Amino acid sequence: MSGLIQSVRGMNDVLPEETPLWQAVEGTLRGVLEAYGYREIRTPVVERTELFARSIGVVTDIVEKEMYTFTDRNGDSLSLRPEGTAGCVRACLEHGLLRGQSHRLWYAGPMFRHERPQKGRYRQFHQVGVEVFGIPGPDVDAELILMCARMWRELGLEGLRLEINTLGDAEARRRHRADLVAYLRAHEDALDADSRRRLETNPLRILDSKNPDMAAVLAGAPRLIDYLDGEARAHFEGFRALLDEAGVAYEVNPRLVRGLDYYNRTVFEWVTDRLGAQGTVCAGGRYDGLVEQLGGRPTPAVGFAVGLERVVALLEGRREAAAAERAPHAYLVAVGEGPERAALGLAEALRDAVPGLRLAANCGGGSFKAQLKRADRSGARVALLLGEEELAGGRLTVKWLREPDHAQRTVTREEAVALLRALVAGRGSPGAA
Ligand code: HAM
Repeated sequence: MSGLIQSVRGMNDVLPEETPLWQAVEGTLRGVLEAYGYREIRTPVVERTELFARSIGVVTDIVEKEMYTFTDRNGDSLSLRPEGTAGCVRACLEHGLLRGQSHRLWYAGPMFRHERPQKGRYRQFHQVGVEVFGIPGPDVDAELILMCARMWRELGLEGLRLEINTLGDAEARRRHRADLVAYLRAHEDALDADSRRRLETNPLRILDSKNPDMAAVLAGAPRLIDYLDGEARAHFEGFRALLDEAGVAYEVNPRLVRGLDYYNRTVFEWVTDRLGAQGTVCAGGRYDGLVEQLGGRPTPAVGFAVGLERVVALLEGRREAAAAERAPHAYLVAVGEGPERAALGLAEALRDAVPGLRLAANCGGGSFKAQLKRADRSGARVALLLGEEELAGGRLTVKWLREPDHAQRTVTREEAVALLRALVAGRGSPGAA
């Protein structure tokens, strides 16, 4: 059978019109991460399934029903990574990075979850994630929040709300869990089927339910925050004091529990109202037990991940401006046998002479008119015209494509280089006659 093969549901192509905005977002985030001294780590997209089961938790939605898991040709169970924290911890342990040292790391790349696709929720999506190892205090939790706030400022993203909570330590969670299950059992009639199922497996997640019929029962449920021991309480208070000191606005949401099991103490989410149900743009928290759980020495850790699809969706209005910023500065039009032969060499010479120049050279021939049309479509600011006459005189004709009031001029190669340098440097409309 023939026919067009389509992409896998929930997995998107990012087309050339969209990539400049993605690149701008990624570049801004990388700049902020570097400004705080974070270093990049790259780990594989595929890991052993066991890594995710042991870190994210076997009774979480992600591991229970959302992983792309397969058996490879050796009979090993492998999974496409649904998130980046587990792989990052594995890599640090495997390479001995955590021995007595602290590390501030970041990564970017695709993650995979077999969720029901909808706006803002995909089966392949992209995160920029951050993980810090070896720093126990709330100062670094607060630094992560400040770093996020700077990311939003530099991206020009407005209206993100910060919600924070603390999940305390294991012992407090055990005591809270027992009381919570007893309370919810007493109100079992008011729970939906999904929550009843979770009573056995992951009762804390019931608190996260968005079902309005359960709101009243959940509002009366025991609150984890009331079970904290002194140290966890002091950590949370220290974290809040640092945010207050820095003037960062936040809301304590006692029902913020997160969907991955490895968290303890600080958790947080940055949320927007502009993306419907999928409003969490960035989420994270502390996971002091995970390194030990994966076979390392006890090591405090904290991190977060930004969902790039959601950030890009919020900045959609900038798509054209971002594309214009990445468009070629110039397009080289060559008409006639001699000019066509000389064009590739000339284009190389111009790129050598003008660092940073984005120059698209016409390939595939075509009439003057057809080439100019391509030049225009490329988004270039100027067309450089090379005809027989220009070739013979060692000159180029400059035609401004976006500024109708700038006259066309024929200039020497040196003048063309000066003009291109000024264009690359972003100095207005150099050489306009
Ligand atoms: P997460 O909350 O599962 O946390 O994901 C972080 C962010 O990734 C979400 O807030 C959202 O923006 C984006 N995201 C998640 N799933 C999807 C999806 N199906 N489609 C589009 N975007 C999505 C983690 O992954 C943790 N590893 C974060 C972390 C790092 N915690 C500590 N360190």
